[in-house]
Amino acid sequence: MIETATSQPEPVITIRTVDGPRDVDIYTPEGFAIVADLFTRSGWQNKLSYEVTWLGIPIIQLPEDIVMVQELIWKVRPEVVIETGVAHGGGLVLYASVLELLGRGRVVGVDVEIRKYNRLAIESHPLAHRIHLVEGSSVEPETVDQVRSLVGSGQGTMVMLDSNHSRDHVRHELELYAPFVSPGSYVVVFDEVMPMVADAPNAKPGWDRDNPLEAVRDFLGTHPEFVIDPAYERLRTTYCRSGFLRRVED
Ligand SMILES: C[S@@+](CC[C@H](N)C(=O)[O-])C[C@H]1O[C@@H](n2cnc3c(N)ncnc32)[C@H](O)[C@@H]1O
Repeated sequence: MIETATSQPEPVITIRTVDGPRDVDIYTPEGFAIVADLFTRSGWQNKLSYEVTWLGIPIIQLPEDIVMVQELIWKVRPEVVIETGVAHGGGLVLYASVLELLGRGRVVGVDVEIRKYNRLAIESHPLAHRIHLVEGSSVEPETVDQVRSLVGSGQGTMVMLDSNHSRDHVRHELELYAPFVSPGSYVVVFDEVMPMVADAPNAKPGWDRDNPLEAVRDFLGTHPEFVIDPAYERLRTTYCRSGFLRRVED
């Protein structure tokens, strides 16, 4: 059956405020922001980011973030994209696919455990010629040394941090990987959604404090060469809120 407009609920959300309940029209900017945040939270609980593939490989990202990352790589045109946290490899293939159309560039993917079938799928993908895999914890000195030797003298490096999402781990990664980022390029920190969904049934205790957003806040306090670029949050539905960090030009 095709639902008609008359079967829809009223376009008003009642929110609780300290001054009592207030109705918000969903067609206003405020209403849109509330609906988008509710969608993000409910979508997280319902594992939306596990639904998507990119050119055949599962990618654990929100569709809106995928579109924003595509815009970012097309605009910045990096020579190298480093990603910590590979999983199935969909992120690597996404970055490689944009670089392929630009006709240049390489992707370096780091994961503490690259499972056999994920490695096989990545290494047999049509874009494998642009992808290098490094197995090891992203914060181990030997891993960073391997990444450094793969990046070489490449000018124009971008970094995606999507591995262990604890505050301390992301803070450590920012210290180790931000120096790779060229002026005008970006480090993108994933999963800032954690404090937003800290009340969800699937959340882990402590996510309201132990999350990548706290790491970003701390990092920015001592690294004025990086600023948050809100342009890449304009779709509102994102797991990278305050997570697109641009290195200012020298
Ligand atoms: C959310 S998934 C990454 C999703 C992927 N970026 C994508 O776009 O589909 C997180 C990955 O981080 C990896 N990981 C966890 N701790 C890590 C660490 N210390 N160093 C490197 N990778 C780690 C896990 O093995 C897992 O594969």
